[in-house]
Amino acid sequence: MAHVLHVSASPGGEDSRSLALADAFLDAWRQAHPADTHETADVWNLELPEFDASMIAAKFAVLRAQDATAEQEAQWDRAVRVSQQFNRADVYVFSLPMWNYGLPYRLKHYIDIVTLPGQNWRWSRDEGYQPLLSGKRAFLMYSSAGDFSEGATPQYQDFQKPYMRQWLRFLGIEVAGEAALAPTLTDPDNLTRIREDATARARALAARS
Ligand SMILES: Cc1cc2nc3c(=O)[nH]c(=O)nc-3n(C[C@H](O)[C@H](O)[C@H](O)COP(=O)(O)O)c2cc1C
Repeated sequence: MAHVLHVSASPGGEDSRSLALADAFLDAWRQAHPADTHETADVWNLELPEFDASMIAAKFAVLRAQDATAEQEAQWDRAVRVSQQFNRADVYVFSLPMWNYGLPYRLKHYIDIVTLPGQNWRWSRDEGYQPLLSGKRAFLMYSSAGDFSEGATPQYQDFQKPYMRQWLRFLGIEVAGEAALAPTLTDPDNLTRIREDATARARALAARS
């Protein structure tokens, strides 16, 4: 039995293509793995603490066991709690709209909060960076106006997929599958076909994983 966390990164609600793709994946996953438990982290509705100068000061005060004030301890605990909710999962599903060739800023904010030393990675002089979430898997459900699929020759570079893959690798999480509902900037008939193909791919991925 696995615990599945859907990290939902589109504010689009019922109109969101990446959310629709993630929902299709999750429906098929529930059928294939009925005993699994599920949770959603909607980055647009989560209360994310600011990761500003005072959070950075709190981080160093707590981690270097300096004289952290009670307020600094509490501030750092707020980030740790969001990180621990993330770290508890065994399987991750991300719904990922492309924004300006990368991630929506709320998702980047979430990533900056959850990626904490001692919680999901560590560093030492002898070993360098070590991931702490090895053995977990992630499935990435993308959507973009442009076509960034293999073989396409987009005018600009995709920083969304490389960023997600590198961040997850840094934590030890295996990218076990990806599907993209794209390009969405196309005529309605073509969009219907793209939606159907992507949905079928997402469902098949969940059924065999
Ligand atoms: C703020 C913003 C920036 C966007 N930037 C890009 C982009 O750089 N490249 C692209 O192909 N599409 C871009 N899009 C289009 C979205 O990726 C596309 O509409 C996608 O389907 C959105 O996913 P969603 O429906 O799940 O929210 C952008 C959309 C928004 C709202």
